[in-house]
Amino acid sequence: MMGDGPAAPGVYRGATVPTARRDHQTEKPVELIETLLTIVPEGGVVLDPFLGSGTTAVACVNTGRRFVGFELHPEYYEIAVDRIQAAQEQTRLFPFSEEAAF
Ligand SMILES: C[S@@+](CC[C@H](N)C(=O)[O-])C[C@H]1O[C@@H](n2cnc3c(N)ncnc32)[C@H](O)[C@@H]1O
Repeated sequence: MMGDGPAAPGVYRGATVPTARRDHQTEKPVELIETLLTIVPEGGVVLDPFLGSGTTAVACVNTGRRFVGFELHPEYYEIAVDRIQAAQEQTRLFPFSEEAAF
């Protein structure tokens, strides 16, 4: 049955973003991207040439990585900018701590 038992190497299991809360049809969970970003040193630069709603950039803000991103569609670009700004404001209120997160 899917979701039970150990996952194969390189396979991550977790909750998806509920459809009603998605800003983008294929939006990824921020927590998943934050986990994947642990392979990048803090302060490192992450390139996401397909930003969509900006999940990768939000995860970078949350975990102290820098980012460069591109998004083709203006409506998704605006959503990404709003989410990035909200994450930056949140991070200023509650600075990210790698020790507290892992
Ligand atoms: C799979 S979605 C990314 C979803 C994103 N990971 C999220 O969580 O919201 C891919 C995005 O790439 C954008 N895209 C496709 N071709 C592009 C291009 N040539 N340059 C920039 N963005 C592009 C699409 O508009 C789409 O929003």
